[in-house]
Amino acid sequence: MGNKKRYVLVGTGGRAEFFYGALTRDFSATSELVGFCDINQVRMNYANKLLREKYNYAEVPTYMADQFDQMIENEKPDYVIVTSVDRTHHKYIIRAMELGCDVVTEKPMTINEEKCQDILDAVKRTGQNVRVTFNYRYAPHHTKIRELILDDAIGKVTSVHFEWLLNTRHGADYFRRWHRDKRNSGGLLVHKSTHHFDLVNFWIGSQPDTVFAFGDLMFYGRENAEDRGVTQFYNRATGNPLAQDDPFALHLDSDAHLKSMYLDAETEDGYQRDQSVFGEGINIEDTMGVLVQYRNKAILTYSLVAYQPWEGYRIAINGTKGRIEMSIIEQSYVNSLGDKSKEGALIGKTLRVLPMFGAPYDVEVEEKEGGHGGGDPVLLNDLFGAPSEDPFHRAANHVDGARSILTGIAANRAIATGLPVKVDTLVQF
Ligand SMILES: NC(=O)c1ccc[n+]([C@@H]2O[C@H](COP(=O)([O-])OP(=O)(O)OC[C@H]3O[C@@H](n4cnc5c(N)ncnc54)[C@H](O)[C@@H]3O)[C@@H](O)[C@H]2O)c1
Repeated sequence: MGNKKRYVLVGTGGRAEFFYGALTRDFSATSELVGFCDINQVRMNYANKLLREKYNYAEVPTYMADQFDQMIENEKPDYVIVTSVDRTHHKYIIRAMELGCDVVTEKPMTINEEKCQDILDAVKRTGQNVRVTFNYRYAPHHTKIRELILDDAIGKVTSVHFEWLLNTRHGADYFRRWHRDKRNSGGLLVHKSTHHFDLVNFWIGSQPDTVFAFGDLMFYGRENAEDRGVTQFYNRATGNPLAQDDPFALHLDSDAHLKSMYLDAETEDGYQRDQSVFGEGINIEDTMGVLVQYRNKAILTYSLVAYQPWEGYRIAINGTKGRIEMSIIEQSYVNSLGDKSKEGALIGKTLRVLPMFGAPYDVEVEEKEGGHGGGDPVLLNDLFGAPSEDPFHRAANHVDGARSILTGIAANRAIATGLPVKVDTLVQF
């Protein structure tokens, strides 16, 4: 009993249940959840209700954000899990380490170079550990690409062509809430692309050197809608007749979970989860193109567009002996609406190797139960269970977390200045 690892969690919104649900349901033999922290008491109470009713676990003490230190002193956790708004990650990551805890943080590790530097310095100063939960690494088809490259299936990688499509359901969701302000999320090139840039770093075993990018808001936002002839606007969808026929609207009273998590909680902090994607104040891009050169000289051409008819991605990896092509259609998922194990679920998948001279062949990859093709349970076991040695080294630390965001941070700077950015000018490792 006394040997169980103790965990507290900061940020009890949509993502949090992925961790506290698994901890209390699947890893209770080795792990104990001992506290919640948030700026919103209603949301913490709802998380406790889910603990009790869905996971048959006793409610845990709750602490407001300004009681974080108190929580650490009272509950004596070994680990702090950070699932709060991106803008706040660094604050909890650093303070947790200063108070002697290790950290498990959601992506993106943080959103800009200053906060990234502060985290890197704090790791050095405290000697504590940070894990960044890159669940995409663990999806079997993504791990398979790493394996193919390690096995020399295409020789030395020279270039990667990577197109990611977010659709009008999932893609739109980033424009309804806090992500739409770059100060909260770093924009999609940090918030979302951190997954994709991490995958490229992981697959090719290198790190970004020079980055150039263009990006703009070309579909969402009031101005774009006005240019297309729209004349009726609203601020939030729930209960608003103007939103009834808007296919982009999210109605918080249409789902009991959404209502309890957000609508019932908004009196405390004014967080509106259902804002119009054609409203004012959106300052992130929805259309982005990035060019990256890596330390090993490989070149990435990357595209991210957030208003597409389908959700998924196409990747081509070229090497000196051939080419890997992968095409994935994902089931679209809106955070807090639906079964978590369906997140990143696959509707279609092809993975092919095309040797430079031999016949092309399809690579079979077994998908398992759980989100992201069965990758999520493997990640959770890696975090909370007793994992065996991983030949692919998928566990990501603060350095991986930093390298994955630095491409997006550099891309943001390139968009702002019109100039290419050397990544090693951003932070010192
Ligand atoms: N890896 C993945 O697939 C994945 C999927 C979804 C979300 N995420 C990540 O999880 C995190 C949370 O996202 P979400 O969708 O759950 O958002 P959310 O809006 O549902 O929840 C955010 C929570 O943070 C709390 N919060 C806000 N400011 C705070 C502060 N100063 N101190 C403490 N808590 C604060 C909010 O009250 C809310 O409870 C984000 O970093 C996001 O990138 C990762």
